Amino acid sequence: MKVIAPFVPTPRIVAVEMLKLAKVRSGEYVVDPGCGEGNILFVASEIFNAIAIGIEIRGDLVARCLHRILEKGLVGKVYVIHGDLFDFNYGIADVVTLYLLPSMLEILSEKLARELREGSRVVAHDFPLPKWKPVEVIEVTSPLRRHRIYLYRVPESLPSTYSSSEP
Ligand SMILES: C[S@@+](CC[C@H](N)C(=O)[O-])C[C@H]1O[C@@H](n2cnc3c(N)ncnc32)[C@H](O)[C@@H]1O
Repeated sequence: MKVIAPFVPTPRIVAVEMLKLAKVRSGEYVVDPGCGEGNILFVASEIFNAIAIGIEIRGDLVARCLHRILEKGLVGKVYVIHGDLFDFNYGIADVVTLYLLPSMLEILSEKLARELREGSRVVAHDFPLPKWKPVEVIEVTSPLRRHRIYLYRVPESLPSTYSSSEP
């Protein structure tokens, strides 16, 4: 399924607060579906020492990510997949970061509920994950505006109609 959302990057200061809120630990897998030019991926790797994986549908943005990975010497620490975020299996993720349109989150919320493991966290920028219950919501001010960040944890945030153990 291809739903192209516009590319709007998460400011670095907001990315830092998202990953702090998710309590990302060294060596954890952080996955950013629709990673754009990789802002969240680079913060995850450079500040939190996580393994960062992005999925991006636009070839020009994938090329920009690859260029930045090489420039920053982060080969083997930051990965970018050129493809559709709905084709990825999120079972590997300790933390998923989201900055996507509500129409995409509607579909993704069920997929994440099926695929994420117990203990995984989801942090969403500005747009909440439909039907999931946040365990914390904070606001962050960037030079541009105020941003809202929603934190979810599996299993306590899952809607009762979903089950994380479904095939
Ligand atoms: C709002 S931007 C967020 C970029 C990045 N996550 C960040 O926060 O800096 C959304 C991104 O999702 C990408 N995108 C939209 N639909 C997609 C799809 N079906 N599969 C993969 N990427 C997609 C867009 O090209 C865009 O780069």
